[in-house]
Amino acid sequence: MKKWALITGASQGIGYEFTKLFAADGYNLVLVARDQARLKQVADEIGARFGIVAKIIPKDLTARTAPKEIFDELQTDKIQIDVLINNAGFGFQGAFSELELQRHLDLIQVNMTALVELTYLFLKPMLVRREGRILNVASTAAFQPGPYMAMYYASKAFVYSFSCALAEELSGTGVTATTLNPGITRSQFHGRAGLQRSKGFAIMEAEEVAKIGYRALMNGKPNVTAGLINKLSSSIAKALPTRLTTRIAARLNKHDDR
Ligand SMILES: NC(=O)c1ccc[n+]([C@@H]2O[C@H](COP(=O)([O-])OP(=O)(O)OC[C@H]3O[C@@H](n4cnc5c(N)ncnc54)[C@H](OP(=O)(O)O)[C@@H]3O)[C@@H](O)[C@H]2O)c1
Repeated sequence: MKKWALITGASQGIGYEFTKLFAADGYNLVLVARDQARLKQVADEIGARFGIVAKIIPKDLTARTAPKEIFDELQTDKIQIDVLINNAGFGFQGAFSELELQRHLDLIQVNMTALVELTYLFLKPMLVRREGRILNVASTAAFQPGPYMAMYYASKAFVYSFSCALAEELSGTGVTATTLNPGITRSQFHGRAGLQRSKGFAIMEAEEVAKIGYRALMNGKPNVTAGLINKLSSSIAKALPTRLTTRIAARLNKHDDR
């Protein structure tokens, strides 16, 4: 019997690249994102190319009820999730006080609350079976505060801390949690965030980032940062005083000049 992987944010970018990796390894897929037409296109493409079943669940994860609705729909369909990929996420640029409060709250809901709720719901049956894998997509933004993208950086620091802690709690249970920290990656993310970071020598392709995450997940690694340059810059960021790294991030985010 084929295993099932659930991927949030599966319609494009890193999430879309994950769909191909799982399908190539024979997993059936549950694809979650808002854009129903695009999800159907991905499901049709992947299904035909790899001979697997791809079920779509169009959901807006800013809705408080979305994670439970996803879980309940899969229970009703008797689909057991073997792998959970919490990838959906977004950010935006601007001074905290000048942006609408609702945008901040929506970011918290998608990047943090939905991720926690999906993890909680799908982890329980995995623990009963003593088998399962969870991957949470954080970011190198987790390693320093990020003025002018304050909520995004804070949300990724949360994901990083939560997910690494969970990995340790799960040791010996048969279930693993892996945190993936991409650096700047080519996708729709920056355009949507109001940033122009599509250039730069350290930019990685979404396909490469997903492959690194996939490998770490399958090896049960608790944490991986994508790419040598991101690994090095993250180590430096962790070693420097927070005040300094915060100022550097402020400069980069305010002027968006990298
Ligand atoms: N790109 C980077 O440089 C970078 C760096 C570090 C970390 N990351 C993280 O990597 C993850 C994937 O980002 P990406 O670069 O692949 O960005 P992307 O191309 O913008 O893709 C984001 C995905 O999330 C889905 N999504 C966004 N808001 C959603 C919502 N409210 N409800 C449900 N789904 C939603 C989008 O689909 P719909 O629009 O159809 O809903 C899309 O499938 C994110 O967690 C991001 O924070 C990205």
